Amino acid sequence: MTHVLVVGGTGAMGRHVVQRLLATTDATVTVPTRHPESAHAAALAATAPDRVRLVRSGPATLETLIGQADRVFANTDFFATGSAVGEYRQGLHLLSAAERAGVERFVWSSLDSPVSLTGRPVPHFDSKAAVAAHIGLMRSEEMLREETGGWYTDHVSVLTTAPYFENLRDRLTPRPDDRGGLTFKLPLGSARYPLVALDDIAWFTCHMFDNWQSWGARDLAVIGDSLTGNEIAAAFTEVTGTPSAYIPMPHDELRAAVPDFGHDYAAMFQFFADRDLYARDRDIGLLRRLHPGLMTFEDWLHHTGWTGQPPTTPSPNASTHDPARRFGTRADAGLRSGRPPSMNGHRDRADGRGSDRPRRLRRRVGRPVRTGNSGVGGGSPAQRRCPLGAEETHLTGVRVKWVKRVSDQVLSPHGRRFRGAAPPTPPACANPVVVVPPRVICAR
Ligand SMILES: NC(=O)c1ccc[n+]([C@@H]2O[C@H](COP(=O)([O-])OP(=O)(O)OC[C@H]3O[C@@H](n4cnc5c(N)ncnc54)[C@H](OP(=O)(O)O)[C@@H]3O)[C@@H](O)[C@H]2O)c1
Repeated sequence: MTHVLVVGGTGAMGRHVVQRLLATTDATVTVPTRHPESAHAAALAATAPDRVRLVRSGPATLETLIGQADRVFANTDFFATGSAVGEYRQGLHLLSAAERAGVERFVWSSLDSPVSLTGRPVPHFDSKAAVAAHIGLMRSEEMLREETGGWYTDHVSVLTTAPYFENLRDRLTPRPDDRGGLTFKLPLGSARYPLVALDDIAWFTCHMFDNWQSWGARDLAVIGDSLTGNEIAAAFTEVTGTPSAYIPMPHDELRAAVPDFGHDYAAMFQFFADRDLYARDRDIGLLRRLHPGLMTFEDWLHHTGWTGQPPTTPSPNASTHDPARRFGTRADAGLRSGRPPSMNGHRDRADGRGSDRPRRLRRRVGRPVRTGNSGVGGGSPAQRRCPLGAEETHLTGVRVKWVKRVSDQVLSPHGRRFRGAAPPTPPACANPVVVVPPRVICAR
């Protein structure tokens, strides 16, 4: 029986991978988690109690778990360290442990590299991409040595993903307008938002694992759709019947709204404006040939039946520090309760392939007309601060603490200067916070 280790398996992406592995294979799955006793971890294990093993994560534990695994899927959490170098080290640590253990199939969940593609960094993308680049470098080294069966060449694949459609539901939830409709306020300007369904990321992951011989060390970059803000609103209106509109959020507002990482997120949306990933960096024809059920945004709306409600239960990983959970519109999403359900009687397909309806968006190949919106509008400030990197990460032992004090300036671990000279107020945060004057600590 195959044994799969899913790093990040309790998270949004990892959970979908675990569920698909359970549904389509007879593999047993091990999921490291800081909180095996948490409701979301327990719910995941309850899906298949005899096949899912939750293990409290820790540096030594992870080495052991890798040693027991035939296959590894690794989606590390950038926000666990809040450091590009920190996540890069995590990735290298996982890879070298897996190489030592002789793991048969290792899939690294990556993102595109803005700093390579455009010259402008997006730290939480570049860190994953740097690990992918390391994998490429190691393959190159193996080729130079004329190694046959090089581990990085034959046993590692890179799956480059994209933002999830689910972000629009769980993190960037639309707000009610005063006419019974909804407003998607997004930091897109006139750019396109490259998106993919979590179910489809899971599909491609399992496809890569199951077709290793034909894939070898070939990598895959996935996407499901790419929409402007106006197209998101139009598709939503068409599928749900609820009138909706797009309002651009200025990047400055995003920078100001998300402590520590607003500039990283703003850089990401600028990257989407600078680089059309869907048109330039994905082979949508190949992806659809491999996976005819690959969902567009419309398909995903049909598939999930989401009609604009904010999540009714907290995100399974609300305990983690991903600021993306806060830069959206959750604070006022509750205003939407009582809105009437979908009015056009759309239906879901049980087979997970999305809608039978004409696929307007799917037919759209090439570069659609841009909408020409300019960035205006307001936004909700972060409700509370929960500084990232305050906790030690247990993945690799990379230990990053949050604050350093240099003279009277307060810097984040990655050196960003907070505005103003005064240290930020200790946040209201569920997790313990370590504020460490007088110097930065970022040690292995
Ligand atoms: N949101 C998007 O659209 C998107 C798209 C592609 C890639 N990503 C990337 O995906 C990563 C986050 O994964 P996700 O979307 O699945 O988010 P998530 O739902 O927040 O899950 C985070 C996962 O990381 C684990 N984790 C968090 N902090 C940890 C720590 N200190 N030590 C060990 N494990 C820790 C969590 O495990 P426990 O809480 O159980 O310990 C959980 O499994 C980020 O790097 C993000 O950039 C996001």
